[in-house]
Amino acid sequence: MLRSITDELKSIVSSNEFQAMRSVRGTGFFEDMLKFFDIIYVDRAARIVKDLLLYRRRGLKMLDIGSGFGYFPWICKRLGHYVTTTDVPNEMYQTVTTYLGLEPAILEIKPMKKISVTGKFDVITALKTSFHDKRIGKWSKTDWIFFYKDIRRIVSKKGFVYITSSNICDSRGNRCNKELYRP
Ligand SMILES: C[S@@+](CC[C@H](N)C(=O)[O-])C[C@H]1O[C@@H](n2cnc3c(N)ncnc32)[C@H](O)[C@@H]1O
Repeated sequence: MLRSITDELKSIVSSNEFQAMRSVRGTGFFEDMLKFFDIIYVDRAARIVKDLLLYRRRGLKMLDIGSGFGYFPWICKRLGHYVTTTDVPNEMYQTVTTYLGLEPAILEIKPMKKISVTGKFDVITALKTSFHDKRIGKWSKTDWIFFYKDIRRIVSKKGFVYITSSNICDSRGNRCNKELYRP
């Protein structure tokens, strides 16, 4: 099933209509976003779905932080999960995720600020995001510890948080590139 869902998304991404969105410009546009028009990013999203065993489950309430083009939430949604797709305000991301039928929401993670979402989630992901690294400078150990403490507020009892990016920290403030956090 995961394979056929992934193939379906790849064919959407390869279509002329989808590729035509390369010309979208607007506030917050970064040149390196164009790389996401490549189907290798669909494969990457599918690999994470597989690694997290999300293809074996249904109906999880998920929050994806910094969704970008939304390939990961799209696959999760097709598998029967309820996913909130989020990113910073950005015309390219809004256009692409809306095209994919994802109803993108604005969520900007900031150091020492509570994450502004309501309710609890079974799965919270932040995949290759850069909220800790760019624009406002690298996050300190204290910023990370605050972040994990706050995230406990929005993750359900048996839920988990998966974060992957360079220069991130785990919940104790130790450097890592990947963190599977179960509060
Ligand atoms: C390399 S892209 C990864 C996109 C997607 N998660 C993926 O794996 O394909 C990094 C993402 O982090 C988002 N991002 C950067 N700063 C952020 C912040 N402060 N809060 C939330 N998302 C942020 C960017 O807008 C972008 O979508």
